[in-house]
Amino acid sequence: MIDPIIRDRAALRAMVTPWKRAGETIGVVPTMGALHDGHLSLVAAAKAACDRVIVTIFVNPKQFNNAQDLANYPRTEEADARKLERFDVDAIWVPDGDQMYPEGFATTVSISGLTDCLCGATRPGHFDGVATVVSKLFLQTGADKAFFGEKDFQQLQVVTRMAADLDIPVEVVGCPTIREEDGLAMSSRNLLLSDRARVYAPVLNAVMENVAAALREGAAMADLLPDAMKRLERAGFTDVDYLELRATDGLALLERAEVPARLFAAAWLAGVRLIDNIAV
Ligand code: PAF
Repeated sequence: MIDPIIRDRAALRAMVTPWKRAGETIGVVPTMGALHDGHLSLVAAAKAACDRVIVTIFVNPKQFNNAQDLANYPRTEEADARKLERFDVDAIWVPDGDQMYPEGFATTVSISGLTDCLCGATRPGHFDGVATVVSKLFLQTGADKAFFGEKDFQQLQVVTRMAADLDIPVEVVGCPTIREEDGLAMSSRNLLLSDRARVYAPVLNAVMENVAAALREGAAMADLLPDAMKRLERAGFTDVDYLELRATDGLALLERAEVPARLFAAAWLAGVRLIDNIAV
């Protein structure tokens, strides 16, 4: 059966209020749709941990700093609802722009520090948009637990910080990145890759795995970067927004993996921006 699709804030509230009163645990899986197995692994984790599960689908204009990127973002609501059927979720919250940002909306949630680097530096305003919409989704759904993929590791850290700072009583749960067999991290943006670009896309992860292996042996980023960049360029990546080693906790830039660290990359392939990160 298709799970109930809710498009109206009042209807969502009417649904959630009795769950809260009955003391049921509510899990939320925030998404922008174009669901893939990575999202579905979050839904499975939510189903296993919560009495009620709400999946949200909203392509949030406030987190796009490029109008073309927003226009191109895949929108596949019917297929998404079908993919969710087997999980029997309690609600799919699909607000439109007016439900989320009604006339006169004037609030921005902004997190400092953590957002200065990586996607925060290369996509100005992106994390303000994410934090604003995610704080609203937490409050709208009354979620006790919220499930996010580690693929967007910086986002995971930002929303965790935001919930703690704003005293929103939600536990943010990070779940492992799900990959295609060839190593490409699953992403809704993969749908935008041409057949040819899809062949070369896994090179990003392959290069990162090589760099990470050398870092584990004690190598320095400065010695590994030139070859890594050359390999990405050869595979057709035009711009590398970043390929950086950063501390897992707090995201400070590192030259060597002397504390728990992750390798982060964002790079453009045939007009599509791919991101990935792996533990070192
Ligand atoms: O990761 C995403 O899909 C989005 O950034 C999120 C968390 C749904 C907020 O719009």
